[in-house]
Amino acid sequence: MDKQRRGWESWWMASCFSFLLCFGPQVSAQIRYTVPEEMKEGSVVGNIAKDLGLDVSTLIDRRFRIVSGSKDAFFQLNQNNGELYIHRSIDREQLCEGNGACVVNLKTAVENPLEIHYVAVEITDINDNRPSFSEQNQHLEIAEHTPIGTSFQLHAARDQDASPYSVRLYKLSQDENFEIDIRNSDEEKIPFLVLKKPLDRERKSEHLLILKALDGGNPPKSGTLNITVTVLDINDNRPVFTQDTYSVSLQENSPVGTTVIKIKATDSDEGPNSDVEYSLGKTLKRKVYEVFQLDRITGEIKVKGEIDFEDTDVYKLDVEASDKGQPPWTVQGRVIIKIQDINDNKPEIELTSLSNIVAEDSQPGTVIALISVTDKDSGVNGKVVCSLSDNVPFELKPSFQDNMYSLVTKGRLDRELVPHYDISVTAADLGQPSLSSIKTLSIQVADVNDNPPEFPSNFLELYIFENNPPGSSIFSVRASDRDVNENALVSYQINRGVGTQNEITSFLNINSETGVIHSLKSFDFEAIKKFQFHVLATDSGAPSLSSNVTVNEERVWGGKSM
Ligand SMILES: *[C@@H]1O[C@H](CO)[C@@H](O)[C@H](O)[C@H]1NC(C)=O
Ligand SMILES: *[C@@H]1O[C@H](CO)[C@@H](O)[C@H](O)[C@H]1NC(C)=O
Repeated sequence: MDKQRRGWESWWMASCFSFLLCFGPQVSAQIRYTVPEEMKEGSVVGNIAKDLGLDVSTLIDRRFRIVSGSKDAFFQLNQNNGELYIHRSIDREQLCEGNGACVVNLKTAVENPLEIHYVAVEITDINDNRPSFSEQNQHLEIAEHTPIGTSFQLHAARDQDASPYSVRLYKLSQDENFEIDIRNSDEEKIPFLVLKKPLDRERKSEHLLILKALDGGNPPKSGTLNITVTVLDINDNRPVFTQDTYSVSLQENSPVGTTVIKIKATDSDEGPNSDVEYSLGKTLKRKVYEVFQLDRITGEIKVKGEIDFEDTDVYKLDVEASDKGQPPWTVQGRVIIKIQDINDNKPEIELTSLSNIVAEDSQPGTVIALISVTDKDSGVNGKVVCSLSDNVPFELKPSFQDNMYSLVTKGRLDRELVPHYDISVTAADLGQPSLSSIKTLSIQVADVNDNPPEFPSNFLELYIFENNPPGSSIFSVRASDRDVNENALVSYQINRGVGTQNEITSFLNINSETGVIHSLKSFDFEAIKKFQFHVLATDSGAPSLSSNVTVNEERVWGGKSM
């Protein structure tokens, strides 16, 4: 400290001498000292007595003193040695304004004889003030995509010290988007924030910068300003769906109001620029709008109409997300809704009968009808099993085509036993629970001539009264035939070609239709008592079948057998 002080002293002493040399003759300030501000109280400024050539030993007697001014309180004189010393520490910035020399003029006096001496003390600046900003924070709002090179004025720092200890430079904290530009105006340096790279709010919405003002001291003193840059959004991002394509399964017959899926798009802008609204594409099939609705706000797709797998098994929806910027950005997406079949359809049976009538002598395997079975459902709900009612002489033969069968005869048919069948065809799918349908086919068994006429017995006994009137009916035979129609239409004739009684049978006549036998002549009991003949019954089938009966005739007298 002592050393430094001596340094100061020698410095201002040197100044003093030069002033003496240059300005000594001037009355206004016979002596000029230079002293830095903020010197400690008691620090010696200079020895006025010595510098004026006054006898130090006489100073007390001659009442050596400062007589002038109000600023004298900064200084006092030592009457013992003639030194001027600091009485009160001096703040240059308080005393003077501006950058000019700060000089305190003192008027000193000695008496006997009276002498007035002027002393000028220049207070030089030291770096005792730091740069300071009027505010600690500055807030800027800058829109993204503002052109680079755009500049924004910042608060300037002030330093009360004079040059070179005033504000010398500004430093900005590291930031890739900004740099600092200093413009000189009068004596001030004005800092500007300059955009050197476009702002992207979505990358960084706020920039915190620190501006440091440094003065010319060594070391320099500094002051800081916190700068907050808020990046204002512009609508420079389109919404983005969380998936390019959404795929979802929906069960058939899902009730109205069922939520199918919730789509979502995000937009990295902010405010209305990031508010997303959803809509269905404008060019979808009308059906889609009838079956589904999309909530504009939530992005939920809900069932609005009937979901019928058999009608449509997959829906492809174009969806759109749009932000509310001006102008808005939109983005397209796709939702694929696969409908899952449920077993809600019965199988359908289609019968194509070749004929409702089948001959009873048909060979086994004769095709009677073609059956095709369809089911609108899919998977196991389509798969169909076909069956026939039990105990019928028919069976189903699968055809080379899926779900096609032929109904064929299995065994021999016998119209005389079962003339008619009602065959139930049942088609059941394999769904859970299974659905089925039944169709009934009526089949008539057609007759073939497989039964001959039958007489109740092989032998008939016939009794005839004697003297029957010629031409009267004496007897009738009847054969039945289990077939029908022509095959059962029996005609009768008397077989005359047998035995020796030809002459007798020649008198007999038979009605071929009714089987009633007439005698053309009256039989004479005495002539022949007994005779025999055959009646042949023949049906009208093609070929016809026939059978005969043997009639034994006996003549009866008075109605009694002999
Ligand atoms: C200025 O910013 C710095 C660093 O972010 C922080 O520590 C300091 O508190 C801020 N000062 C003011 C006055 O906000
Ligand atoms: C009539 O029946 C007899 C005995 O049943 C038989 O021997 C005969 O051949 C039959 N005649 C005809 C034409 O059917």
